[in-house]
Amino acid sequence: TQKVLFDTDPGCDDAVALSIALASDEIEVVGVSTVAGNTAVENTTHNALSILEHLDRTDVPVARGCEGPLCRDLETAEEIHGPGGIRGDPPEPTGEPVSQHGVEFIRDRVGEYGDDLTIVAIGPQTNLATALAIDEDLPATVDDIYLMGGAALCPGNVTPAAEFNFYVDPEAVSRVFRGATPKVVGLDVTEAATVPARTIEELAEEDEPQRTLAAWLGYSEVEAIRDGALAGDQAIHDATVIVDILDDVLDYREVPVAVGAGDGPFRGAIAPDIEGATDDLPTAQIALDVDESAHRDRIVDAIRGL
Ligand code: BDR
Ligand code: CA
Repeated sequence: TQKVLFDTDPGCDDAVALSIALASDEIEVVGVSTVAGNTAVENTTHNALSILEHLDRTDVPVARGCEGPLCRDLETAEEIHGPGGIRGDPPEPTGEPVSQHGVEFIRDRVGEYGDDLTIVAIGPQTNLATALAIDEDLPATVDDIYLMGGAALCPGNVTPAAEFNFYVDPEAVSRVFRGATPKVVGLDVTEAATVPARTIEELAEEDEPQRTLAAWLGYSEVEAIRDGALAGDQAIHDATVIVDILDDVLDYREVPVAVGAGDGPFRGAIAPDIEGATDDLPTAQIALDVDESAHRDRIVDAIRGL
């Protein structure tokens, strides 16, 4: 089994990612650190505990991390994920976060598991950048680091060029790229890898836990899904990372990459140097292609098997 640490801002698609990982006997979730992103860190922490409660996995420790980007004000995405950052009304948590800060929690898990550990960072990169700034050997210590973020060769979803996670904390992304060579799972692949609206509508008619999963897959309340609110097939961005860990559905290319700093449309945009025009940029492994049907089948099977 692959040991995975989640760094996350749940978030509907974060909730699906976590559910699929928890459902798999090929992955052991060794902990969850939370970060501000889709909503404030109080809420993402509450939501992480609530997701674990929904899936009867309160044994997984949750640590509350950074409450905002390294040097900017937080911008959230509650209009997509729901007020409080999640849809579907999962149960109130009975558990509490551990007392350790999320950044220290990440460093501790790295110390404990070393190269058996994969870090999956599916919110803004603030916690990971901070952990890396404290401990430069961190990337060399772990097996793999996956980031969900960026729009490498495709349009963004916050500005014409920038994806949400990278837009929220671009300085953190730069810091991570300087210190590590992560696998970057961005909109280039996640927008292509959808779950059919019809499947989500079917799940909304089932019992728990699938019903609430339907709300997360559809970024909508169950009643609204039943009333035909889904605009179409849904990209479940963060879950694509987990499907790739399980089934190798993505093709990556290791290239130098620039990150847009400053403000305006290029804030948090990334530009992969596909032609090799530069020699002074850090490199990353950018996902550029996805096996769409293998991806869809794995997500749907995992959810039906919960
Ligand atoms: C990313 O932004 C967030 O809203 C989602 O949870 C995902 O991590 C997609 O752009
Ligand atoms: Ca997320």
